[in-house]
Amino acid sequence: MSSLHDIDHVGIAVRDLDATIAWYQQMFGAEVHHRERIESDGVDEALIKVADSYIQLLTPYTDASPLAKYMEKNGEGIHHVGYRVGNCEEVLEHVKVEGARVVDEHPRTGSRGTTVAFLHPKTSFGTLIELVEE
Ligand code: CO
Repeated sequence: MSSLHDIDHVGIAVRDLDATIAWYQQMFGAEVHHRERIESDGVDEALIKVADSYIQLLTPYTDASPLAKYMEKNGEGIHHVGYRVGNCEEVLEHVKVEGARVVDEHPRTGSRGTTVAFLHPKTSFGTLIELVEE
C-alpha cells in the first residue's frame, strides 16, 4: 500500500498573490479557502480548493525567504507537490533510510496546523516533494 494517500496541494510560486487570486476567480470562479502567513518559510499563502485538494499560491514577503531566492532563478510557476500521508515522521524516516536527500531532517508545522517535511528535488528526479499530515 502506498504511503501517499492523496494529493494535498500543488504549490505555485507567484509574484502578486492578490492578482493571482483575482485571476483564478475571474477564469474559473475559484475562491480562496484559507490564507496564512507562514513565517517559518517567509511566505504568504492562499489556498484554493479543488475537489479534496488545494492549489497553494505562494509569494515571498521577505527577500530572506528561500522562495524569493528560488523565484530569482526560476521565476513564477509550479514549485512543489504536497502529498497527504498518514504519518509524516514515519514516511520521512523511511525515505531517509532508502537514500533520499531531505530538506527537513524532522517534521515541522506547516500551514493549517499540518505536520510537514520536504524532500530535496536532487534525489526525487527534480521535484520538490512535501509530505503533509493533517
Ligand atoms: Co506546500
